[in-house]
Amino acid sequence: MTAPILRRLSDLRALTANWRKNGEAIGVVPTMGALHPGHLSLVEAAKNGTDRVIVTIFVNPTQFNNPEDLANYPRTEIEDAQKLAPYGVDAIYVPDPDEIYPQGFATTVSVTGLTSVMEGEFRPGHFDGVATVVAKLFLQTQADRAYFGEKDYQQLLVVRRMARDLDIPIEVIGCPTVREPSGLAMSSRNQRLSPEGVEIAAHKHRIMLDLANALKNGAPFDTLAAQASTDLLAAGFTQVEYIQLRCAESLNPLTHADRPARLFAAAWADGVRLIDNIPV
Ligand code: PAF
Repeated sequence: MTAPILRRLSDLRALTANWRKNGEAIGVVPTMGALHPGHLSLVEAAKNGTDRVIVTIFVNPTQFNNPEDLANYPRTEIEDAQKLAPYGVDAIYVPDPDEIYPQGFATTVSVTGLTSVMEGEFRPGHFDGVATVVAKLFLQTQADRAYFGEKDYQQLLVVRRMARDLDIPIEVIGCPTVREPSGLAMSSRNQRLSPEGVEIAAHKHRIMLDLANALKNGAPFDTLAAQASTDLLAAGFTQVEYIQLRCAESLNPLTHADRPARLFAAAWADGVRLIDNIPV
């Protein structure tokens, strides 16, 4: 059965008030729609971890630093609702834009530090948009737990920091990246790749795994990153924005994987910007 689609905050509040009265734990899976198995794995985790599950779908304009990217972002609400049907979620919240950004909206939530590198550097303003909309979704849903994919690992850390700093009583749970059999990390943007683009994109995970293995053997990161960048371009990527090794908690840069670390990469293939990260 498809879950009710709610567009007004008052309707959402009426529903959650009942759940809260009954002492039920609420889980939220924030999304921008165009759902794929990665999102559905978050829904599954939320179903297992809470009594009631809300999936939010809102293509948040303030986190897009590129108007073309916003215009091209896939919008597939009917298919999304169908994909969610087998999971028995309790509500799909697709807020009308004025529920998120009412007339005169003048507040921005900005997390410093974690946002100054990688996605923050290459997509100015992106994380302000994310932190602001996610803070609103946390407060609107009043969820006890929120589920985010490690595919957007930097986003996960930013959102966790924001919730802690603002005393929003919610546990932010990170879930493993879901990959295609080729290793390509699932992403709504993959829909924009041509069949050739998919083939090119599939090389990225292998190149990152090779780099991670070489790091474990003690090779210096800078040399390996330069080689990985050359390998990506040779595989058909048109531009490599960054390949970086960073502390898994602070995101401070590392030259050796001498503590829990993650390897991050952002590169363009077939006109699509693809990001990925793996633990090292
Ligand atoms: O990861 C996403 O899909 C978005 O950044 C999020 C968390 C739903 C905020 O718009």
